Amino acid sequence: GRPKFLEIFGEQYPTDSITNITPAIIAKLPLRLHTRPSHPLDTLRTLVESHYSDFAHLSSLSPLVSPFKNFDELSFPQDHPGRAATDSYYVNKDLMLRTHTSAHEVEVFRRGEDKWLLTADVYRRDEIDGSHYPIFHQMEGARIFSADASGMKEVEEDNERLRHRLGQANILIEDVPHISPSNPNQPTHDPLYSELVAQNLKLSLNSLMLTLFGGPGIGGATAAAPLRVRWIEAYFPFTSPSFEVEVFFRGKWLEILGSGVVRQATLDTANVPNKIGWAFGLGLERIAMILYSIPDIRLFWSTDERFLSQFTDKEITTFQPYSKYPSCFKDVSFWTPQNVTLHENDFCDVVRDVAGDLVEDVKKANDFVHPKTNRTSLCFRINYRSMDRSLSNEEANEIQLQVVSRLQEQFGVEIR
Ligand code: PHE
Repeated sequence: GRPKFLEIFGEQYPTDSITNITPAIIAKLPLRLHTRPSHPLDTLRTLVESHYSDFAHLSSLSPLVSPFKNFDELSFPQDHPGRAATDSYYVNKDLMLRTHTSAHEVEVFRRGEDKWLLTADVYRRDEIDGSHYPIFHQMEGARIFSADASGMKEVEEDNERLRHRLGQANILIEDVPHISPSNPNQPTHDPLYSELVAQNLKLSLNSLMLTLFGGPGIGGATAAAPLRVRWIEAYFPFTSPSFEVEVFFRGKWLEILGSGVVRQATLDTANVPNKIGWAFGLGLERIAMILYSIPDIRLFWSTDERFLSQFTDKEITTFQPYSKYPSCFKDVSFWTPQNVTLHENDFCDVVRDVAGDLVEDVKKANDFVHPKTNRTSLCFRINYRSMDRSLSNEEANEIQLQVVSRLQEQFGVEIR
């Protein structure tokens, strides 16, 4: 049966009949990839934060939330499929892993923040493939204004600033109306206010898309081809009107984020009823996979140095793939004949010639000159590994034998 308690972050939580959080998930809760220096997800977070430099930046809220916070406070209906234990992870009926960063909207607005960004790990039960993982990372961004003439003046000034920036950029935007019968403003909102706020949301996010995808050198806009951004009507229980943003990048339309004008019920609950504003939520993995050319979502969780050592803090670089199959190490030590110099490159050529692409790297382990005989001893460690299958030990031994005999024939070495 199930354990009576689960230990999470050093606390004991009682389980019940809907408990479904697994040990594999619990083990990953403390990892917080979005705060690991040099990790692609951390660099991407920093990039978005630097775009919104005058916003409050939050990234350390616990993933454990009540279903009330994750769903009810955001006006999700009682029968919303996301609530099902088949779709979400529950510690027990009163505590779950947040399924989105929107779960924190009410508490952050309640703190009095009116421009903020929040980055966090989020959890959803899902299918297994190269772009789905039960844990991923989102950034929530929001901005609210006074719902009066002074607030709307602030919106208009910001819209002017953003229009100016976008007017000089190489960007092509496919828009939809801010408000339409299928994507209405809220009954409590002055439609003019709602329009202005939706306009601010769009200008702000178009500008973010330029920061993320419009830079030279990462396959975004060029002088000939502008960055293409497409706005689509959407539906979320906690925003209206609602929109999704797609970006055309490296030949494909990518879904980037969901957004909209915040539902007044959310702001009322947060004790800021006289405000109006927008929110968006974007998934970091999908964007990072594209910007860094990372082919599989599992790689973000890799502790392999061949992954981690590729990245530099605050820099977007192209991921260099490496084999996922096991290594087979073989050493060879030998004396070189007195009148022969055997350069490391000579050795490597022999190995390449015999092993072809089954060799991944060769390292000189040590060399020394015998004080009496004056002979040089060399030792090399060869790492055999295929790019596309598991290599058997027998196969590696067979190749190693050929390397050894070629060394003897070609250079007259004496194997030790
Ligand atoms: N929370 C939504 C999601 O995960 C995204 C969203 C955030 C939509 C904020 C609107 C406003 O899909």
